[in-house]
Amino acid sequence: MTDHDGPTRGDAIEILRWYAEMGIDAVVDATPHDRFAEHRAALSLREAGSASNPQAPARPALTAARPAVAPVSGAPSLFPDAAAGSTTEAAQSAREAAASARTLDELRAALESFDSCALRATATRLVFADGNPAADIMAVGEAPGADEDRSGVPFVGRSGQLFDRMLKAIGLDRTQVYIANVIPWRPPGNRTPTPQEIAICLPFIARQIELVGPRYLLCLGGSAAQTLLGTKDGILRARGRWSDYALPSHTARAMPMLHPAYLLRQPAHKKLAWRDLLALKLVRDAAMGNG
Ligand code: URA
Repeated sequence: MTDHDGPTRGDAIEILRWYAEMGIDAVVDATPHDRFAEHRAALSLREAGSASNPQAPARPALTAARPAVAPVSGAPSLFPDAAAGSTTEAAQSAREAAASARTLDELRAALESFDSCALRATATRLVFADGNPAADIMAVGEAPGADEDRSGVPFVGRSGQLFDRMLKAIGLDRTQVYIANVIPWRPPGNRTPTPQEIAICLPFIARQIELVGPRYLLCLGGSAAQTLLGTKDGILRARGRWSDYALPSHTARAMPMLHPAYLLRQPAHKKLAWRDLLALKLVRDAAMGNG
């Protein structure tokens, strides 16, 4: 790059490569935004609005101008006045939307129109579910990655392909399993979802589990296990332990398992996953009278 000319093609490729290495792999908008200025403008609009009409309802544009979730604990908030309250409100509206869905199609539609989770704005599409809604096994992962974000189908990337091979090892495929995630939108750069994002999305996945009504619930990875089963233990300790998951119609058997993405990084631990899969097969075969 020179002082006078703009960046060359080579420079641009270099910058993009650096972005990708830093985990910036998605474009949210073509133009930069000064969120501080937008927020200030929104606040003065609100003040002007309430001064001229004290009865006026809050403008929707004001809520759109701020993130719906609180920042990760420890991180400074851009909107300190809004952060904590907005998570509570978003979780409440998620509970209402999820509870009113009587079918999986209605739940998908409720999620499609739910705009109180900021992840929706950065994701390409909703990743709702795959597999058979009538299956007796439901597997729940953490959140979609880049491949899932592109396709709208959970567990289709490398870890999903490993999960398919794991199912095959015990004679199963996606026609016998229903698959979803705690978070249905990809967190930017595949970062870990924040506790606030999890709190907002939890009513939806809880309702999805209720509507599917599986006999066996596999929580893939520590995040899904902690969110759905309330376990405090790390996944290496929690994995393979059965617990009860209460549903309106029956009690499902739930088991945390190692996440396939973790197994790709730690192939030596595949033997632990194999033990857990065999345990599932034994319990299920026995219940079906095939034991
Ligand atoms: N990891 C997950 O937890 N879910 C997916 O859908 C893909 C990868």
